[in-house]
Amino acid sequence: MRATARAHPNIALIKYWGKRDSVRNLPAAGSISATLGDLWTSMTVDLDESLQADVLAVNGRGRADLLPRVARCLDDVLGTSRAAARVASRANFPIAAGIASSASAFAALVVAADAAGGGRRSTAELASLAGRASGSAARSLCGGFVELQPADGDVTVTSLRPASGWPLRVVIAVTDAGPKAVGSTEAMEISRATSPFYARWLEQQADDLAAARAAIAARDFSGLATVAEHNCLKMHSVMWSSRPPIVYWNGVTLDCMRAVRELRSEGSDVFFTIDAGPQVKAFCAAADEARVHAALAAVAGVTDVLVSGLGEAAVPIDDA
Ligand code: DP6
Repeated sequence: MRATARAHPNIALIKYWGKRDSVRNLPAAGSISATLGDLWTSMTVDLDESLQADVLAVNGRGRADLLPRVARCLDDVLGTSRAAARVASRANFPIAAGIASSASAFAALVVAADAAGGGRRSTAELASLAGRASGSAARSLCGGFVELQPADGDVTVTSLRPASGWPLRVVIAVTDAGPKAVGSTEAMEISRATSPFYARWLEQQADDLAAARAAIAARDFSGLATVAEHNCLKMHSVMWSSRPPIVYWNGVTLDCMRAVRELRSEGSDVFFTIDAGPQVKAFCAAADEARVHAALAAVAGVTDVLVSGLGEAAVPIDDA
């Protein structure tokens, strides 16, 4: 009745920003991401009949504030007549700062909960359950390059290419490791309700997805760079044009973007993407990693630089 799983965060190349159904947590459009290999969350779920209520510890500290969302996810996987659970998670990277920690956390949670309950569910079912908790978490059920599509009141995830099929590197410049001011769930609802660009953003998503899919199939770095930066900047334009405006960037974020563009103009294979936080994620070819790392580390105000390859699907692990 106890199991542990490990899952990796994923970084969207074509973003999910907006829901068609906020009760079921269904994305309004598809998205494409890459799962990271070197950053991880491990999650232990211990179902204990003698326990009165669920308890949650994150990196060794009790987090009653995060418990309702975790308990709801456990109910979705195990049913509401389940035993209470002792849930403990650990991550090897800063959480709640826009490095997709909720994606790896909920992906690991559904896999661990299912394994603790006997391990009956398919990857497709687990992705659907993770997506209910956090849309982007569904993508962390798969490794490498992953596409998510909403379909028939549910989501499907498809592996577009394994990590080994195009071993890009990701260099993450941390510009502020504190928790974000507005969570993405609330922020995307504000965008849906108020941004004059929201409808256009959704209309163009199919074209961006097709361009990214083709670039990934052909290992066309410059094609992927062009569409991924465009899609990222479009998502942030939707955020900026929301009322109230949602601005996740700081001055250092902009300096990092400029550093990445400079490297590309000098011939490096690198592009940036930014999510609901101020960190800059630079995707690059392995041959350019050292240069990208040095350039981002040299930007004044960058507090940390994390590096990762692409990685594998969420899996149960031996927690002995
Ligand atoms: C900017 O998956 O965190 O990272 O479904 O409300 O939990 P909820 O949202 P979440 O949103 C991720 C937004 C993003 C883009 C992306 O990962 O596609």
